[in-house]
Amino acid sequence: MERFVVTGGTRLVGEVAVPGAKNSVLKLMAASLLAAGRTTLTAVPDILDVTVMADVLTGLGATVQRAPRSQGAAPSQGDPRPGGVAAPGAAGDRLCIDIPQDAGGAADGDLVRRIRASVAVLGPLVARRGEARVALPGGDAIGSRALDIHIHGLTQLGAVVDVEDGILVARSDGRLQGTSIWLDFPSVGATENLLMAAVLAKGTTVIDNAAREPEIADLCAMLAAMGARIGGAGSSTLVIDGVDELSAVEHETVPDRIVAGTYAVGALMTCGDVMIRGGRAGNLTIVLEKLVEAGAQVDVRDDGFRVVGRERPRSIDVVTLPYPGFPTDLLPQVIALEAISSGTSLITENVFDSRFVFCRELHKLGADLRTDGHHVVVRPPAKLTGGRVTASDVRAGAGLVLAGLVAEGVTEVTEVHHIDRGYAHFVEDLRALGADISRVQDRAVA
Ligand code: EPU
Repeated sequence: MERFVVTGGTRLVGEVAVPGAKNSVLKLMAASLLAAGRTTLTAVPDILDVTVMADVLTGLGATVQRAPRSQGAAPSQGDPRPGGVAAPGAAGDRLCIDIPQDAGGAADGDLVRRIRASVAVLGPLVARRGEARVALPGGDAIGSRALDIHIHGLTQLGAVVDVEDGILVARSDGRLQGTSIWLDFPSVGATENLLMAAVLAKGTTVIDNAAREPEIADLCAMLAAMGARIGGAGSSTLVIDGVDELSAVEHETVPDRIVAGTYAVGALMTCGDVMIRGGRAGNLTIVLEKLVEAGAQVDVRDDGFRVVGRERPRSIDVVTLPYPGFPTDLLPQVIALEAISSGTSLITENVFDSRFVFCRELHKLGADLRTDGHHVVVRPPAKLTGGRVTASDVRAGAGLVLAGLVAEGVTEVTEVHHIDRGYAHFVEDLRALGADISRVQDRAVA
């Protein structure tokens, strides 16, 4: 078991580089299943979820290898590292995935349940092989996270979908058939799954009320390079003309807007000055506007953006919504910000039903919070005091670390494997910015 030990009171000052987005790369990895041959992904973040997804692909017959960009191409096929890819901390940013002509169709081991994103293999597998078996996924403890929109859409494309002993089974008698699909909610995962199924379907598919997250536009760009015909990328209506075959390509992952946003909030909270290199301000418009309202100075540059905090943040109200709304994945970080702001704020969560579990932990550090349904009211007084808190999911963990940076004394964040799922080299990067934080291994009790 590992924990982070943070001593509060330092400012974040300097530069940090933003890696590729977790929520893009996992789907790009799934998309590799759509074509035999070698897919190469670059700007791949060194995070636990990539390791798990690589193992899921390996279980489907793929060979997955990492190499730093500077070392050129990965070793040739047939020389895989045991266990798929290196553990976080040891890996490069380039991932080579070799998909055989006859990839398997069953992703039903325990591994698959560990990350929700593994459900993204469902669409590609049923489209290319006519059958897919995917264990019902797990992931973060942030809500019920149903799959009805995925299932309904795949059924409309002609697949027969059943749940058999906790395994989602999708079968198609021949090619899927293009159709019009209206999503009840702009679900990110359902949009991606249906998109990846539709690119090989017969005829035209229209996905309406599609999610518009930048990670979906990134997936569309990779699919288009593979030979898919997609109109409306980045909009809420995707028009897909199915093709017979796709080919493997090299593709660079879009920068992680949530990691960039986390450092931006940290800069404001600590009255710091951080250049977030590679961060795309255009993918964080509402977030940066909110941070400016809270007192940050934001300078957008060609190669990223700089965030400066000069005084105690002003309180702001925030409502999370699907993109381009305020991202739910920055909710804990912004609640931590509000906990030290100068007035009362109202935060509303509209995407997940259990993201406020985080508030219980923040309360242990002295935050004055009151939750009611999907709202939380955060009030001054604003002094946070160090304590022992638990990360319940990746973003909650990041929010607690930010709170620790401004709390008086020492904060210990446990269950940091959640943070490792989405933040590459978090401790190292925060230390480089001046934070007093370290990763501590708990000694095993005999
Ligand atoms: N939903 C349904 N039915 C469905 C699909 C979704 O009811 O068939 C509901 C969910 O229960 C949830 C809401 O719709 O309440 C949003 O779910 P969505 O499908 O949009 O999210 P997701 O694909 O499961 C991805 C990210 C999340 C991010 C959300 C929203 C990945 C691997 N995960 O999840 O990221 O919060 O989109 O932007 O891409 C994170 O990185 O910390 C994280 C949780």
